[in-house]
Amino acid sequence: MAQQKATNITWHEATVTVDDREKLLNQKGCVIWFTGLSGSGKSTLANAVEQVLHHQRHHTYVLDGDNVRHGLNKNLGFSPEDREENIRRIGEVAKLFSDAGTIVMTAFISPYRTDRDQARALIAEDRFVEVFVDCPLDVCEERDTKGLYKKARAGEIKEFTGISAPYEPPLEPELTVNTAALSIEECAHAVVETLVKIGLVPAGN
Ligand code: ADX
Repeated sequence: MAQQKATNITWHEATVTVDDREKLLNQKGCVIWFTGLSGSGKSTLANAVEQVLHHQRHHTYVLDGDNVRHGLNKNLGFSPEDREENIRRIGEVAKLFSDAGTIVMTAFISPYRTDRDQARALIAEDRFVEVFVDCPLDVCEERDTKGLYKKARAGEIKEFTGISAPYEPPLEPELTVNTAALSIEECAHAVVETLVKIGLVPAGN
């Protein structure tokens, strides 16, 4: 749990509210939280969903693990503590985006249930959609898009998720998609359908 270090700070309420921003954008801000193994297809799927929503004239943004680790989280590695801090920051950033009225998609392994639940707790209940990108380890390893599984098996990368570090699948995600069984388009369609069902985006606009 991150410690509150600063004292003498005061919370200022904005005069333009979340509601005002959402009216202007004509949409609801929300967080679509993709979780799954490296190579499961989280980023590809988040980008495919973003394409669909963008073409439906929604304001969207994708926060991607590898990208965020080049900037905001460049001082974090892959120990359990650093992953916790990685996900804590992303949860907070996702909350800011969603308060700004954006449909934000996060594509991080986020292997620990408690870290994901803490991110969920920051966001209104009906505005957080957890999507388990379920792809068997052997398929991810077979794909090995970044060549990292090979290195992890050779012991060149320590604490690699699925090989030498744990992955805790969600118990009650809003949606599970199996990227080994379905195409990315089919998975993206299932995500958008879920958003419609929850009432976060209108049907087929
Ligand atoms: S998380 O566990 O903290 O959520 P995150 O999604 O930000 O991870 O970053 C995962 C990406 O970092 C992987 O897709 C992979 O490209 C790279 N990576 C490098 N080292 C590791 C490692 N030890 N375990 C998992 N992914 C790693």
